Formats: sequence, C-alpha cells, structure tokens
Amino acid sequence: MRLWENIERRKLRNGRKPAHVAIIMDGNGTWARRRGLPRGAGHARGADALRRTLTEAAYLGIPCLTVFAFSTENWKRPPDEVEHLLGLFKESLQKEIPELCKNKIAVRFLGGLEKFSPELRELMRSAEAETKQERPALALNVLLNYGGRDELVRAVNKALNSGVRTVTEETFAKYLCTAGLPDPDLLIRTSGQLRISNFLLWQCAYTEFWFTPKCWPDFDGRLFRQAVRSYQKRRRRLGGAQDEKF
Ligand code: IPE
Ligand code: IPE
Ligand code: MG
Repeated sequence: MRLWENIERRKLRNGRKPAHVAIIMDGNGTWARRRGLPRGAGHARGADALRRTLTEAAYLGIPCLTVFAFSTENWKRPPDEVEHLLGLFKESLQKEIPELCKNKIAVRFLGGLEKFSPELRELMRSAEAETKQERPALALNVLLNYGGRDELVRAVNKALNSGVRTVTEETFAKYLCTAGLPDPDLLIRTSGQLRISNFLLWQCAYTEFWFTPKCWPDFDGRLFRQAVRSYQKRRRRLGGAQDEKF
C-alpha cells in the first residue's frame, strides 16, 4: 500500500464512521461469465472478497457488518448451483474459524436457518459459539435464506403468537431477526444492479446507498474505503430540515 493511501486510510478511520454496514454481495455469476468460467468459480472467489472486506472493516473500526449471502428467492436457482453454494458455506465454516477468532470477529447467522441440513446448522451454531466474545472488534452477521418480506411476516406471526395485540416501531423491531442491531447506516451493492432485492426492507428506511459496477469477487479494501468515504461526505437529514433558517 502506498504512503498516501495509508494516510487516507487513517483519516477515514478517524472520521465519522457508519456503525453498521450492510452488503449485497452480488455479481459472482457475471464475474465468472466474463472470464468464460463456471458460475461456481465466481462464488469461490466471492469468499476471498469477503475475507478482504472483513480485514478492512476491522481496520477502519466499523463495529458491525451484515452480508447477504443467500436469499429466500435464491432457491429458484438450478439445484447444482444451490448445492455448490451450500458446499462453499460448509467449507468456509470449517476453515475460517481460527482466522475469525484471531481477528476478534464474532459471527452470527440470521434468516430462515431451519431450512438447512442439521449438519450445516450445527456448524453455524459452533462457529457462533467459538467466535463469541465480550468485546469483538467486528460483529459479522451472515444472512442466509433471508428475505425482507419473509422476515416481516415471521415477525408479525411471532408477535401474534406471543399474545401481543398492538406493537410500536420499537417493540416490532424486537421480532425481526436483526433485533438488537442498529439499522444499517450504509448499504453497499456490487455488480451494477440498482435494486434492493428483498434485503432488510424495514431496516433500510433511512440507510445511505452506495453502488458499484464492480462484481463482488473484485471487491476489496480500496472499494470499501470508497464507499465509506462517500458516506462521510453525505448529510443525513432523516426527514428533518437542513440547517438554513425557515
Ligand atoms: C451473488 O452473485 C451470490 C448469490 C446470490 C448467492 P450472483 O450469483 O447473483 O451473480 P450474478 O448476479 O448472477 O452475476
Ligand atoms: C441478492 O442478489 C441476493 C444475494 C446477494 C444473496 P440476487 O442476485 O439474488 O438478486 P437479483 O435476482 O439480481 O435481484
Ligand atoms: Mg445476482
């Protein structure tokens, strides 16, 4: 890394940082197709991009990162591709734990996890237990079999089943799978698609969006810093007025 890049990195670390960054890791298939490779090769390289992103987020002191890894709609893909993705999750779960512990990254898996095999669920449970710590440098949430609408419907049913008759915004948020997490300040989507694809529909009400045409396997610390820099330059109004006098 060049000197000026390092200075700029330190400046970002000392600036106003998003407390929670969410990422739609998109474009693995496109990345592979452009290189004449099978889609699976793109997914495999996507795992490397996540590793790079975690390192950068931890360095910048971003406390919470949520990544969209598999949606409720992704089951529509050819069975071979779904199987390959599940195999990759399993492999990563077995391989990455020591590195996560070393870097003080605590991982949690959120979404409709009951749909996965008992073996995969057990691996997720043990990864959560092994990486759990009092003061993690970074809390990583991996969303699997997640869909924003599915989450909202589950939350309504949970509330009804617990006998609740009315909710407020605050009490309702406790039934979501992101209960206890702050709403994302910044949402990153790769691959040039400008849509939300059923991701964190409730939580992104006031999130700042940042899009890049780069595909997820090409994502790295430099692009992550670009997104954070863009966030630092924005003025969030949250529905309020600007400072000028009325
Ligand atoms: C994202 O990349 C990975 C998952 C959705 C699991 P894609 O597989 O959606 O890649 P594109 O969007 O087809 O390029
Ligand atoms: C969103 O990407 C889901 C994940 C990145 C896991 P998709 O590739 O599934 O979304 P669409 O189909 O382009 O909207
Ligand atoms: Mg896609």
